[in-house]
Amino acid sequence: MQYIMKGGNPLVGEVVISGAKNAALGILAAGIMTDESVIIDNLPDVRDINVMLDALRDIGVVVERLGKHRVKLNSGNIHSVRVDNEYIRRMRAGYYLLGALLGKYRHAEVALPGGCDIGSRPIDQHLKGFRALRANTQVEYGMVVADASELTGGHVYMDIVSVGPTINVILPAVLASGNTIIENAAKEPHVVDVANMLNSMGANVKGAGTDVIRIRGVERLHSTEYSIIPDQIEAGTFMFAAAVTRGDVTVRNVIPKHMEAISAKLTEMGCEVVEFDDSIRVLGKPRLYSCNIKTLPYPGFPTDMQPQMGVALTIAEGTGIITESIFENRFKYVDELAKMGAFIKVEGNVAVVSGNTRLTGANLVAPDLRAGAALVLAGLAADGVSTVDDIQYILRGYENFDRKLRRLGAEIELVKDGREAQKFRLRVG
Ligand code: UD1
Repeated sequence: MQYIMKGGNPLVGEVVISGAKNAALGILAAGIMTDESVIIDNLPDVRDINVMLDALRDIGVVVERLGKHRVKLNSGNIHSVRVDNEYIRRMRAGYYLLGALLGKYRHAEVALPGGCDIGSRPIDQHLKGFRALRANTQVEYGMVVADASELTGGHVYMDIVSVGPTINVILPAVLASGNTIIENAAKEPHVVDVANMLNSMGANVKGAGTDVIRIRGVERLHSTEYSIIPDQIEAGTFMFAAAVTRGDVTVRNVIPKHMEAISAKLTEMGCEVVEFDDSIRVLGKPRLYSCNIKTLPYPGFPTDMQPQMGVALTIAEGTGIITESIFENRFKYVDELAKMGAFIKVEGNVAVVSGNTRLTGANLVAPDLRAGAALVLAGLAADGVSTVDDIQYILRGYENFDRKLRRLGAEIELVKDGREAQKFRLRVG
């Protein structure tokens, strides 16, 4: 399977953004912490979510699909606190099941998380948080084991500001006895979303969205119906698609406040960005200007939007500097862009991107999820036909990516073999 595309069309129109994948992963884990039924809405239909749902089924959660984006979970008959299958090993967010099962059953065993190869991705802060709740943790035979005879609220000071550990400490803390304080917590919208979901189940989590989160443990959680926030990164990707194709795209079903870092940069680069209550319109201009960015935890510029910015800078006027401060291995897409004529020099965690490039079509390989999406944007901005292979990464996090792009006027198709690719080439000329 690969994406094949012919660049050059300005993308024009409206695109509806799906629910946030990374919030959904935490919310699904939170959803198993009660024996009562939980309904989750606005769930994105992407591979990581389906892997998570399979993992839940494996341990005895009854998962009922009520619609394409709506599921009902019943976790009254979980028969195992051990989560291990080949798929969960390849994703990152299986770690949320550690926090959820530890909170509910005081014991959890989950395969060490994988995920995109974008640098070292330790889980020490997750384990430190569990230990602060008086759980014992160890890693053995490729599994992370957490166990607490008495799960007790504690004080955690996070060494780094990080989403995963923040959510993963909130999860067990809501059912621990006593109070927990998390300091230096991550402020990402998905942390707030998971906290809101837990509060709707009867938890007492205060301060999510600030750097101090206070949790008062409760005896039990109850049923809820909860709708997941829109995906900030999917929205940002389409906003950049408008910019690099000099198009005019309105992203709908977004929370403009969550998009501020991205909107500000696109404005700085010369695009017109118009905010409405729950949508944002991006009008690309013939001239795009370079800028510098440094990736930072929210509300800074998200690391998950860094490759898309890298693509935009190759065609902007001037030179742009990207400093990646979250992951050390997130410039793998640079070699792919070089095949299209781009010139980017990487020194450690800094990339210097020369602009004014007329990108030309090439055969590309997606190195990871967000970089893969960025390469598709490059293909849509380039002259001629490009292909992007290894799109299983992209399918992990973008729902109907090619279909949404086609509706905006992109010449792109997901093809299964060389024959289909050839047909596309003949069609587009
Ligand atoms: C999550 C997102 C991912 C996003 C990233 C940063 C999910 C499933 N994935 O990944 O899409 O790119 O946030 O916004 O939500 N760190 C430690 N110790 C830990 C945990 C993290 O040192 O215990 C470091 C990491 O090495 C990295 C940084 O903290 O430098 C960010 O980690 P974290 O926010 O946890 O990222 P992920 O959960 O891997």
